[in-house]
Amino acid sequence: MDVFDVMSSCRAMRYLKPDPIEPNLIEEIVTAATWAPSPGNSQGRDFLIVTDEASRRKIGDAIEEAMASRVAEMERPDRTHRLMLDGTEHLVSTLKNCPVLIFICGKKIYPHQAPRESFIWSSIYPAAQNLILAARALGIGTVFTTFQGSAEPTIREILSIPDDVFIGCMIPMGWPARKFGPLKREPYSRVAHLNKWQGDLRTYPPSNT
Ligand SMILES: Cc1cc2nc3c(=O)[nH]c(=O)nc-3n(C[C@H](O)[C@H](O)[C@H](O)COP(=O)(O)O)c2cc1C
Repeated sequence: MDVFDVMSSCRAMRYLKPDPIEPNLIEEIVTAATWAPSPGNSQGRDFLIVTDEASRRKIGDAIEEAMASRVAEMERPDRTHRLMLDGTEHLVSTLKNCPVLIFICGKKIYPHQAPRESFIWSSIYPAAQNLILAARALGIGTVFTTFQGSAEPTIREILSIPDDVFIGCMIPMGWPARKFGPLKREPYSRVAHLNKWQGDLRTYPPSNT
């Protein structure tokens, strides 16, 4: 697929089939994630790929227990929020069946003389986006999540993650049960400023939701 087609149709996929993903595809996708930039090429990130059924089930159960009622109670003031939170509710209740969970983790290693926590996230997020786009290019669905934080102590124990390793995000990955499609994003004309700042164009929620 053309990279622009990949990016412009790469929706957060919260409806995932339980069918396994072939190991060679997982390797191809994570390899693409390793190509992402990082400060000083420090590459302070690691990819913890969880395919083991018992671990996935335990992690899925722990996140469901922590998140299900929280998400159910979140307000859905418009269609965008309703679709997103219905999707999140579905993802939380089916996470245990998701065939692959990828945790992108990082350590405080950069810069060498005075490591800063912010550089951990600078290393993890571009890698996460590479991973998400590579999966999309292969027709595989993913969603960037941070709700692993709700069950972090349990997840650390299940996966033997040391205390000095930060968990940046968890990316559930599977064959999509819904269609990829066009994205709702602010247009160029609302977000781009040519040569000088042109007034305060931004609103929240975005104008097109
Ligand atoms: C930093 C970050 C954290 C996110 N955390 C979550 C999350 O915990 N759960 C979830 O369902 N989606 C999460 N998302 C996904 C966003 O909700 C999604 O990318 C956004 O709504 C756009 O969705 P779309 O690409 O389908 O239009 C997160 C995205 C980012 C970039």
